Amino acid sequence: MTRHTTQPIDGQKPGTSGLRKKTSIFMQPDFLENFVQATFDAVGGVTGKTLVLGGDGRYFGREAAMTILKIAAANGAARVIVGRGAWLSTPAASNLIRQRGADGGVILSASHNPGGPDEDFGVKYNMSNGGPAPESVTSAIYDRTQEITGYLKLDAPDPDLDTLGESTMGEMVIEVVDPVSAYADLMKTLFDFNALRDLFESGFRMRMDSMCAITGPYAVEIFENRLGAPKGTVTHATPLPDFGGMHPDPNPTWAHELMAEMMGESAPDFGAASDGDGDRNMILGAGTYVSPSDSLAVLAANAHLVPGYKDGLKGVARSMPTSAAADRVAEALGLDCYETPTGWKFFGNLMDAGRVSLCGEESFGTGSDHVREKDGLWAVLMWLNILAVRKMSVAEILTDHFARYGRNYYSRHDYEALPVDLAETMLGDLRAKLGSLKGTQTEGLTVESSDEFCYTDPVDGSVSEGQGFRILFEGGSRVVLRLSGTGTQGATLRVYLERYAPGPDGLDRDPQEALAPIIAATEALVGIRARTGRTGPDVIT
Ligand code: G6P
Ligand code: ZN
Repeated sequence: MTRHTTQPIDGQKPGTSGLRKKTSIFMQPDFLENFVQATFDAVGGVTGKTLVLGGDGRYFGREAAMTILKIAAANGAARVIVGRGAWLSTPAASNLIRQRGADGGVILSASHNPGGPDEDFGVKYNMSNGGPAPESVTSAIYDRTQEITGYLKLDAPDPDLDTLGESTMGEMVIEVVDPVSAYADLMKTLFDFNALRDLFESGFRMRMDSMCAITGPYAVEIFENRLGAPKGTVTHATPLPDFGGMHPDPNPTWAHELMAEMMGESAPDFGAASDGDGDRNMILGAGTYVSPSDSLAVLAANAHLVPGYKDGLKGVARSMPTSAAADRVAEALGLDCYETPTGWKFFGNLMDAGRVSLCGEESFGTGSDHVREKDGLWAVLMWLNILAVRKMSVAEILTDHFARYGRNYYSRHDYEALPVDLAETMLGDLRAKLGSLKGTQTEGLTVESSDEFCYTDPVDGSVSEGQGFRILFEGGSRVVLRLSGTGTQGATLRVYLERYAPGPDGLDRDPQEALAPIIAATEALVGIRARTGRTGPDVIT
């Protein structure tokens, strides 16, 4: 039977990055089927269309892929290009959609959230430009989930997703492709692989922690096979359904094994980690942590050294809570610099319109217009290429950068799982006094201005309100506060702290110490600890 009757299921509203739920919820009868049929309906059907399908290898991914193929076949799709084993990193899926001229793609991932039967699963639809569906599409999907009465699903045996090549399911062609090769080939067009091979041949030591998630096979192929890095350079290189129990989020808290190695006595020259689906990155040198905001600024300043960007950048964009370090580089290079709300999707229009080629976020996301997703391994290769050309260590590159542009000391403090009411009241109170803060003196700092960020997209004119609170202090320091849009438990308050030091003195302080006055002023103005009873943040990046 092809047509199955169903009824709407609650809780199918896609968030920042598709639909993310506990795996057990996705495994309920009809849950995935309803959502996928609603997605196909919302994009005008898939009859005659070509789609890309794959995910980060987490628990339930393969079964979900089988189901989606049967729904696509029954809905008349012409071809689905699937990564072998239902594997594709998010940037590799974005690349395949673009390279193969596909009409769209389905990515099976909950990004940096843990995986397994008791953890998270997710489904995301990407458009023909390779980027995540915009809000107009995700809300159409949601509307459709609320009125759905049936879905089409072919009654066919499970296809073989482990053998490369074409097969058919009904009228539809299933094309199983190597998940890695097209992506690795794309990287070869952007970076100087000869220089990188020489770098590794000269004894340069790197540690890549793929955190038992999807970048493992990509990193092994690129760093070890193609660039000659010693075997074992990539650790946790096999994607596992539960990520081996790891929480695949590349930050100092969750990538603690890598942190310990890089801060230890015999640290390699360079270290990096990526997340579940391979779009996030963390960059480290021996004894050195590079904040994502500084990473973006360094990449902007040095991009011309990398073959793919040798003619210069079109422009740079960062999310509002990301530090202004990149702005200083853009100003020096005469580049346009855009400040967008949190969320990679806001960069898509700017890239499609040819206004920017480099984008980054404080949340460990960096990327360029080579795809329409952020790209973890791309960021690692950017750094490697720059290190190879400049023949300096990560620490030396940072020191040199700060000496030239000054340093934007930066840190993010997260207060997780707060009662939603409490968090909302606290920010509501802040909203109420925003207008009266100007000129206020607190902890030796004077408020210069304060507002709630509102973004007008320069390409399509759409307006996004309520995108975070900003308090600017005289002298270039600021604090930004917003509630996370991706948390799954209660409310997560993110406090982004920034202080500019022009130099030449005071460029090598400990960020927490340099930011202490702003932390104290924030407590005086907002009363986070006083109101929540917490003694400090749960996560510091
Ligand atoms: C996802 C998006 C990022 C965004 C991040 C923000 O990872 O892909 O573009 O920066 O969420 O998360 P938050 O929890 O701060 O809303
Ligand atoms: Zn991710």
